[in-house]
Amino acid sequence: MCSKITNTPIGLKLRVLHRVRLVIAAIVRFFFCLYYGTEGKKLPPIQDDILKLPAVEVARKIRQMEISSVEIVEACIRRIKDVNSVVNCFVEDRFTMALKEAREADELVRSGQMNTKQLAQEKPFLGVPFTTKDCIAVKGLHQTSGVVLRKDFIAEEDADVIKRLRDKGAIIIGLTNVPELCMWWETHNHIHGRTKNPYNTTRIVGGSSGGEGCMQAVAGSIFGIGSDIGGSIRMPAYFNGIFGHKPSRNIVSNKGQYPAPKSELHNSFLGIGPMTRHAVDLEPLLEIMAGENCTKLNLNQKVDIEKLKVFYQYSNEAPLTDPVDPEIIGAMKKVVEFLHVKYKVQPEEIKIDQLKKSVPIWFATMKQEKKFGHFIMESDSVSSILKEIFKNIIGCSGNTFIGLITALFDYSGTQFGSEKYKHFLKKRDDLEKTFKDILGDNGVLLYPTHPTTAPYHNEPLVKAMNFCYTAIINCLGLPSTTVPLGLSKEGLPIGIQVIANHNNDRLCLAVAKELDNAFGGWIEPGKI
Ligand SMILES: *[C@@H]1O[C@H](CO)[C@@H](O)[C@H](O)[C@H]1NC(C)=O
Ligand SMILES: *[C@@H]1O[C@H](CO)[C@@H](O)[C@H](O)[C@H]1NC(C)=O
Repeated sequence: MCSKITNTPIGLKLRVLHRVRLVIAAIVRFFFCLYYGTEGKKLPPIQDDILKLPAVEVARKIRQMEISSVEIVEACIRRIKDVNSVVNCFVEDRFTMALKEAREADELVRSGQMNTKQLAQEKPFLGVPFTTKDCIAVKGLHQTSGVVLRKDFIAEEDADVIKRLRDKGAIIIGLTNVPELCMWWETHNHIHGRTKNPYNTTRIVGGSSGGEGCMQAVAGSIFGIGSDIGGSIRMPAYFNGIFGHKPSRNIVSNKGQYPAPKSELHNSFLGIGPMTRHAVDLEPLLEIMAGENCTKLNLNQKVDIEKLKVFYQYSNEAPLTDPVDPEIIGAMKKVVEFLHVKYKVQPEEIKIDQLKKSVPIWFATMKQEKKFGHFIMESDSVSSILKEIFKNIIGCSGNTFIGLITALFDYSGTQFGSEKYKHFLKKRDDLEKTFKDILGDNGVLLYPTHPTTAPYHNEPLVKAMNFCYTAIINCLGLPSTTVPLGLSKEGLPIGIQVIANHNNDRLCLAVAKELDNAFGGWIEPGKI
């Protein structure tokens, strides 16, 4: 059965442009294949098995003195040193401080001041090392967001989420790489360079939490924290074969993230959330990060998978995007089949036609008074941008090429506050209503996180709009979890996202846990 929800015609001009782009992208891919050939460096295997365990399990072992926090922090440091020359995901450490905090954590356990039950309740992540991206404030560390103008900026205070996690005993060991101003889905900037995919170093890690996605895939820290305004948690989670959750809007505080959202609307698009190798870790981390807002999520309420309403959509058919890879569709079919066989649910295929407009809705509603260029350069006039593009081409600009192109394009398209802007805000409202009606209070939608596996470096330039699979979900403020579903024939991660209605994060997380068990979840890079 297949329901089609409203019909959105696509103009002739756009259809032609769509075809032309497909041809260009195919030609570009051909040359990238030739260029990269069989290049690609292999990662050393994980030496310490403890790094493969879920964060909740590591925490339990520390509490019960089966392992010390110092040992586990040292294992992370060794692993980061082993892999970073290959993938370049880690950009700043606080190892000395982290080891000091680890000794304190071990001391607290040994002292017997609190028994294991008390520790589990009050310090559930005591002694567990984690990392976050270089745009979320960690006191005393840089917070560059990949912008050369900010290369010396040091955060004076922890972001709200970091404060909460440290309060529950977790230990921050350092920062991971991001794209310039976190506004592109390939992780590359002119301070720290380019991050490479651990499954194949010729490919991207995604963005903007790309360094973090990679860090989790290589098991360099026990869990990670990312942020997502257009797919910045879910895309890198997907390209790196791990789990990533973007929470419902207005649940987790965005305070301490740069750039900070400038309006209520943008604040509702942006979500800070966990990125992990194991689905079981997402919920306890979200619970801490949400603080008092956690009560809105009813995380402790049991989810009956048998009673879930499951919907799935294979593609959005948006112009200028790639068709969804058959391997991803195949994986989604297996999930549908699995839920049907094991839980007797009757998944229903739907086609929400308004999703074709994902790209213009996201771009229009992301517009703000200040131009993009304002955040990455001294002067953001069109002539300065053009001058900077020239400097970039001859290799002497602090800005990335895509950063400058984004700044230039910000002058075109729908302008903030215009009639067209309002038109797309309305379209957003309509689409939100469609989703609410379909999902109700007990529904999930299975949807691609991205239409292709990880492209080659720089290839996103000709595949720019593929990010709309994740971005539209930000506009709607819905919770969504990316779930890995194994590797493609080329050895690259594939997966899907699981979306639910507002504040129904627990449904996404419950399905993610099921699929982790059934489909194997994270796979160590280089193992297969
Ligand atoms: C990485 O990708 C290149 C180019 O597509 C390919 O030739 C190579 O075999 C891949 N490496 C691995 C380890 O799969
Ligand atoms: C709870 O949500 C409100 C509204 O989004 C936000 O301002 C506040 O910071 C959140 N609290 C926490 C602990 O994140």
